[in-house]
Amino acid sequence: RAYEIIGAPFGFAANKSGSRTAPDYLRENGLNIKIRQRTNEFWGSDIEDFGNVEVDSQINELYKSEKTLEAVKLYCEKLNDCVYNSYVRGKTPIIIGGDHSISVGTVSAASRYLKETNSKSNLGLIWVDAHADLNNLENGNIHGKSVAISLGYVYQDMFKLSNLTDVIDTKNIMYIGIRDLMPNEYVTIQNKNISLYGMDKIDKSGIREVIKEIVSKLEETTDGIFLSFDIDACDGGVYRGCATPEVGGLTAREAIQIIDYVSQSKKFMGADIVEYSPEDDTNGNTNQLVIKLIDTLVGYRM
Ligand code: ARG
Ligand code: MN
Ligand code: MN
Ligand code: MN
Repeated sequence: RAYEIIGAPFGFAANKSGSRTAPDYLRENGLNIKIRQRTNEFWGSDIEDFGNVEVDSQINELYKSEKTLEAVKLYCEKLNDCVYNSYVRGKTPIIIGGDHSISVGTVSAASRYLKETNSKSNLGLIWVDAHADLNNLENGNIHGKSVAISLGYVYQDMFKLSNLTDVIDTKNIMYIGIRDLMPNEYVTIQNKNISLYGMDKIDKSGIREVIKEIVSKLEETTDGIFLSFDIDACDGGVYRGCATPEVGGLTAREAIQIIDYVSQSKKFMGADIVEYSPEDDTNGNTNQLVIKLIDTLVGYRM
């Protein structure tokens, strides 16, 4: 496989914007794409760094004038084009956020590419997160609404003319690691019968069983699998480097196993890794974990 690393330094949609520095920080602290390119024969893969999809002055202005939703939309349209073009070039894109609102751009790009190549878009989405990001209320942080936007459950007027919304079917969404749901999110999950593998399920069955079950279902029923990995899915007691750490999450090995398994699927279409916030990562634990997760995504197995 040929992987393309794409930086998405957009952090306006979270309660704190620390994730905006993650792509560049990671490049300078541990990611060392040049070294990874040299060892690519060993990993059996090819890695390129595309660089960042920058937050331009227009997007900055929107944010400054309190039009955060417009800023999210404009940024995600830019990101959608970039990720879509990565597919056109035959790459497997790995997008480094940024807060989780950037997934509105990445998920829609995977869906757009499927639609263009298969004439229909039947995308599978694995959402690894402490949160469902399915808040459909008009108020609240937008990074807590990415899935709701992708489904067209909130801000329909704003997004209806873009190719960012109505890009996924609820039956193709698989949640992993969820442990902090809002009441309205819980209602949607129940009503739409969305698959949810919370921490309780991982405790009972073990992560290997959980991820095998999820991937085999999606391999049967979808045309492609995209992985969206929010770093706050990992145990917030240990990995503090994010806006909303939650205790009781995935261990490093569990996180690695999810990525290891999903990324070896024939239907794997790429991933985003979001919400890493260097400035909140006071002990550097989260940095080390994120590097391991990216390595696993691009084929390093050990
Ligand atoms: N559900 C909470 C909210 O909407 C937390 C969302 C956290 N989302 C995230 N992408 N970290 O505010
Ligand atoms: Mn989260
Ligand atoms: Mn919380
Ligand atoms: Mn999230």
